[in-house]
Amino acid sequence: MNLQASGSARYAQSAVVVMGLAIAAGFLHANSRSVKAQQPNTCRSCRPLKPADDARCKQLETQLSKPAQFVYRGQAQLDKYEPIMAEFMEKLCYRAWPHDSSARDTGPYTATLAGGVLKAQAYNQHAVSRVWYSPPMFAWMEKNRPEDETRAPADPPAIPIGAMMVKEMWTPPLERWAGTCWDCVKPDGSGAVFWIRDDQTFSTGWFGSWYGPGWSPAWPAAASNPLTGSGEGAAQFCSNCHAATLSGNTFVSMRNYEGKNVHRFLTQLVPNIPAATPHHELVALPPNRVARLGEALYDYDESFSETFKAKLAAPDWTSVDRMPSQTYDDVVVGGK
Ligand code: HEC
Repeated sequence: MNLQASGSARYAQSAVVVMGLAIAAGFLHANSRSVKAQQPNTCRSCRPLKPADDARCKQLETQLSKPAQFVYRGQAQLDKYEPIMAEFMEKLCYRAWPHDSSARDTGPYTATLAGGVLKAQAYNQHAVSRVWYSPPMFAWMEKNRPEDETRAPADPPAIPIGAMMVKEMWTPPLERWAGTCWDCVKPDGSGAVFWIRDDQTFSTGWFGSWYGPGWSPAWPAAASNPLTGSGEGAAQFCSNCHAATLSGNTFVSMRNYEGKNVHRFLTQLVPNIPAATPHHELVALPPNRVARLGEALYDYDESFSETFKAKLAAPDWTSVDRMPSQTYDDVVVGGK
């Protein structure tokens, strides 16, 4: 895909979305009636969910705003970071920040009929999303990612270190949630991702993780030494797509905050067919957990002892250097 194809296509997102719109033009429509029903001014019959404890939230936000403190000798210290992030997310601290006017689709949703069976498929990056921006993040966007992309500065300054975003998610497509008052509901099982900016400490520019129902800290490593789940740490996996943006590894746009010219996608939601497996899961997540080859040996193999008896010093289980768990066996690549 040629990301520079159009003069006004400043961000990779434009290219991705143009693809979605081109498909949409061929088939269906976005249901404008239900999209209007998502606007916040319709939230009269419910109580918006607000941060649970303002003072505590401020403390947590201050702690999180220095992501370099969660890295030691090239390793992400998830034991330090995860409890703070989890409390911040659980208390909905980010719901004090500026946010997208509504949730939105991030890709098309199709139905196909094959051999008499209807099947749904979601071709999105991030399910149905609504993003919340910390004040420094929002101030950067206002100047550098205006709704009218042609007014964006040619050479935007770096996003300030400590700027944060939370992207809440729901099962696609948006059409499924017609009439939902987004201020009054938490994310469903799709959860949310949390990102903090720091392009000095991380080559990816971001540090963060997923949080939602069923979350458990990726610390300590489980006996099976699994890879960390959803981008915990310096977001290398997330860069697969986000590195396609022109600056800051982010697709943010005031378009979503203002609810103006928000991108729409083809939606074929047929009642009563099971929800699609997220495209993301199909292409990005490993089909099964990596199995260990064998258990660690607690003692010397007999033939080894026989051969090297008295020839070498024999460290035992307590004194030998351990291999690091695969779970944490990566090194954070520093930024600028
Ligand atoms: C398959 C490509 C892809 C991957 C992988 C991906 N993203 Fe995204 N992400 C996108 C696109 C495209 C958007 C913009 C969607 C929109 O606004 O409609 C986006 C939007 C976001 C946003 C909202 C702000 C912004 O930049 O628009 C956040 C936050 C985000 N992604 C975080 C993450 C995190 C964290 C990961 C890794 C766990 C990740 N993403 C992995 C493609 C991807």
